[in-house]
Amino acid sequence: MSPTPKKTNPSSDVVLEVKDLVQSYNGRAVLNGLNFKVRKGETFVIMGGSGCGKTTLLRILIGAQKPTSGSVFLFGEDITKAPPQELDRIRLRFGMNFQFGALFQSMTVGENIALPLQEHSQVDPSLIEMIVKMKLELVGLTGFENFKPSELSGGMRKRVGLARALALDPELLFSDEPTSGLDPVMTAVVDQLTLDSTRKIGVTAVVVSHDMTSCFRIATHMLMLGNGPRQGEIIAEGTPEEIRANPDPFLQQFVRGEADGPIAFRLSQDDYLKHLLQEG
Ligand SMILES: Nc1ncnc2c1ncn2[C@@H]1O[C@H](COP(=O)(O)OP(=O)(O)O)[C@@H](O)[C@H]1O
Ligand SMILES: [Mg+2]
Repeated sequence: MSPTPKKTNPSSDVVLEVKDLVQSYNGRAVLNGLNFKVRKGETFVIMGGSGCGKTTLLRILIGAQKPTSGSVFLFGEDITKAPPQELDRIRLRFGMNFQFGALFQSMTVGENIALPLQEHSQVDPSLIEMIVKMKLELVGLTGFENFKPSELSGGMRKRVGLARALALDPELLFSDEPTSGLDPVMTAVVDQLTLDSTRKIGVTAVVVSHDMTSCFRIATHMLMLGNGPRQGEIIAEGTPEEIRANPDPFLQQFVRGEADGPIAFRLSQDDYLKHLLQEG
């Protein structure tokens, strides 16, 4: 008898699944019925202009905010319905790198990175010190444990945020605008760190960004959210090659970074003002 071929179950590869997700603020749908899946090993980049709902989406994906409707399955469990203890258990499996670092200013760099280890694990203090050193080395900040965040540059603070997100060796990393506000050289450095943690260490990543150079450098899969007249919808999804080849004018304007196109002239004054305020 010939051996039964090993069945592969593609659904077992799914780390994150979003179903019919809606988020409205004051009756206005910022995210309007999103559906997508993130598979193990992917660097899934969510892109879109300011105000399209990237941060809102990430907050919902990590269970920090309950959506208006729809579901988010993280490792197979619907976190929109999970009780708090369950959510705490799921949180041990992912790390979050916040848009503005969200570092505690009164604590040192080392204490910031040690925090998730102290809060969520039974790790011995001497081991914590070692892990902190390892994570700082990973982001190129060896020897900076006793600095305060205010003594570091923006790029360094971003890297401390990444080190903290990786403190518990998560299977999944969420990163909100990891390169925003950085110069091109520091952007390349941070992108390389993302690549090191994904391609080399094998962490699955969901990264939100409006920096197209950075998106194309790190992504294995891309999803573009609309804003302005196309607020709430997914404009396109696919591999970087598919995104580059997609003829959607909204998408192409964004990919090429052109000022003239369907995005600018259809934005309402209100949305344009919000866009300017958020850029600052
Ligand atoms: N808590 C909130 N209450 C009301 N409106 C909000 C709230 N959070 C975000 N918004 C609005 O939702 C839209 C998307 O915001 P955000 O998720 O921060 O976008 P992005 O991260 O893509 O710039 C914006 O118009 C913003 O003003
Ligand atoms: Mg944002």
